[in-house]
Amino acid sequence: MQIQSGLLGRRLPHTYSPAIHAHLGSYDYRLFEKEPEELDAFLKDRPFTGINVTIPYKKSVIPYCTELTPIAEKLGAVNTLVCRENGSMIGHNTDYAGFSCMLKKSGLDVTGRKCLVLGSGGASSTVCAVLEESGAEVVVVSRSGENNYQNLYLHRDAFLIVNATPVGTYPNTGVSPISLDDFPQLQGVLDLIYNPARTQLLMDAQQRGLVALNGLRMLVEQARESAEWFTGHSIPADCSREAFTDIRSSMTNIILIGMPGCGKTTIGNALQSLFPHRQAADTDALIAEKAGMSIPEIFESFGEAYFRQLESEVLAQVGKESGLIITTGGGCVTKEENYRLLHQNGVIFWIQRDTGLLETCGRPISQRVPLSELYRIRQPMYRRFSDFTVSNDGTPEQTADKISRQFSAWCLEESL
Ligand code: S3P
Repeated sequence: MQIQSGLLGRRLPHTYSPAIHAHLGSYDYRLFEKEPEELDAFLKDRPFTGINVTIPYKKSVIPYCTELTPIAEKLGAVNTLVCRENGSMIGHNTDYAGFSCMLKKSGLDVTGRKCLVLGSGGASSTVCAVLEESGAEVVVVSRSGENNYQNLYLHRDAFLIVNATPVGTYPNTGVSPISLDDFPQLQGVLDLIYNPARTQLLMDAQQRGLVALNGLRMLVEQARESAEWFTGHSIPADCSREAFTDIRSSMTNIILIGMPGCGKTTIGNALQSLFPHRQAADTDALIAEKAGMSIPEIFESFGEAYFRQLESEVLAQVGKESGLIITTGGGCVTKEENYRLLHQNGVIFWIQRDTGLLETCGRPISQRVPLSELYRIRQPMYRRFSDFTVSNDGTPEQTADKISRQFSAWCLEESL
């Protein structure tokens, strides 16, 4: 039997599901964007053998199911429909397996521990069911519930926080549903959001040295269990690892920082040939475009503080995008707030080059301050911002090649 699969939802503009399922099987995976009034005809027609269902239809499809699995029944939500040859249709929920995998990956044993689940929608029910099954004491925090953001002091003993709200999701990044200041016993934060890879909440958790995981693993694992339902056979964990690596690497921005004139733009251009599907974003070019004048003109007419303000605005704009090659101005590291803007979705490479070889032409700062002095001041900042250092001591192509190899190794490591 030919498998006809896909995803049913209302709006599916940025879904990663087709890319994930491409790693899980060789079946057709199509997107079905349906309005509520089209749902009935679609589910009666059934132009699929097995299909995923996403918001807002996880409940609406239930009356069309001949049978529900115990998990779907318990959650009151279906994300996987499978048609049987006898004409029946079974409804299942693989989000449960997805979150179970995420929790397992965290390495945290929640038995007997207090876990706060932020949000009270469908995703929250799944999270609560898994946590309860694992023996946790679960507290749902929502804006208008019994436990809300005004009485969080009742839960200072929380061991784990799970974010099942959309707060912090692209494009509205840089905000967090909760402050982690008041949870002295907290061990970890799991955020179901996967775009950006590091929400504000996850970066807060990382800064405190807590376990911090985003929702990409859950997304991939729910897809793997769905694929098993679609195909009727088991799918090895290696396939989801491949899918994870693929999505993680295509989403992540490759970011170049380093002293003015160290070759960031030239290396960025060389990287572009190695990653032809990536778009390039040069922050200095974007600043000049925004200001309608050249960088030296901005410095001359409005001063450095104004330039830095424009720079942060541009970093906020590009840092939350996915899959870019971002080349930055040498001074972007001078403002700590810029770190999170870049880190939220990127891997940051510090391009190192002998100060005697740095270009100074058209660079107001380099002409004003001796380069060795500038380097002395900025070196700790480049170190603070960077995930990796790469020395630009060969051709731009050679340096780009080193970055590309380091980036691939990083992506593989992330998927383990
Ligand atoms: C600056 C570096 C320049 C540019 C501006 C300020 C700096 O970019 O952003 O002149 O403070 O180091 P390059 O690093 O591309 O020269």
